[in-house]
Amino acid sequence: MSDRYCVFGHPVGHSRSPQIHAAFAEQTGEDIVYEAIEAPRDDFAGAWRAFAEAGGRGANVTVPFKEDAFRLADVLSQRARRAEAVNTLVLGKDGRLYGDTSDGVGLLRDLEAHAAPLEGARVLVLGAGGAVRGILEPLLAAGPASLTLANRTAGKAAALAADFGDLGETHGGGFETLAGPFDLVINGTSASLAGDLPPLPDDLFAAGALAYDMMYGAEPTVFLEWSAARGARTVDGLGMLVEQAAESFFVWRHRRPETAPVREWLRRSL
Ligand code: ATR
Repeated sequence: MSDRYCVFGHPVGHSRSPQIHAAFAEQTGEDIVYEAIEAPRDDFAGAWRAFAEAGGRGANVTVPFKEDAFRLADVLSQRARRAEAVNTLVLGKDGRLYGDTSDGVGLLRDLEAHAAPLEGARVLVLGAGGAVRGILEPLLAAGPASLTLANRTAGKAAALAADFGDLGETHGGGFETLAGPFDLVINGTSASLAGDLPPLPDDLFAAGALAYDMMYGAEPTVFLEWSAARGARTVDGLGMLVEQAAESFFVWRHRRPETAPVREWLRRSL
């Protein structure tokens, strides 16, 4: 019988993860099935237990359960502890539940694939929620000259920047006080979902800057449109989605699928 995996979310019908993992399984010859499961908002733990009892070996976890999964795991990877979130669960042979996160490394692999300015770069991240917390450790490990967080609620950005200050030069505040230029600007707010754009200064980008939106869609997000109009190179979060999936697949199956063909196929299907 095939090994069972799934993605838990609420809602989860829009998730591309089943298609991505089916493509990885076909590519690598791994015998797995991967489905999408809508867990009840108030009982993530029950949903996981039911899945594990039915033979589930591991899972991805998406909105709004990444913190629930973090609390549920018996053992956390170092990167999950720092992110305070889990997007990858693995049932160990010892019966314990291992929690990991592949989001941060997924972003970094996609940034590298796009030759983004990182080492020695002035990096700005918009937002200060869970999605942003999840990327800060690997971003700082890439050795930027500085990392600035800007958020609608300035205090959250300041607190998050202080939390990661041991890993590099970090600053945090509101949008009003933002002063560029930056070589890399990553939108980690959920503003794009609502078609909103944070209030950003026109001189945000340095020459050769890259604007990255962690969201993706068939059309460019408002942030990417705004950025392109100000001369930045633009990349959306589709590659991050595929890279984080590949990292989860590796955690489960110890096989590293090729991501480029899956990303291209997914782009065509949007
Ligand atoms: P996620 O898990 O996606 O990070 P979250 O923790 O709720 O979700 O964080 C959402 C982020 O998007 C926050 O930084 C939020 O700003 P606030 O902290 O001020 O709430 C930001 N955000 C959401 N909608 C926004 C909007 N319309 N304009 C600007 N920022 C927005």
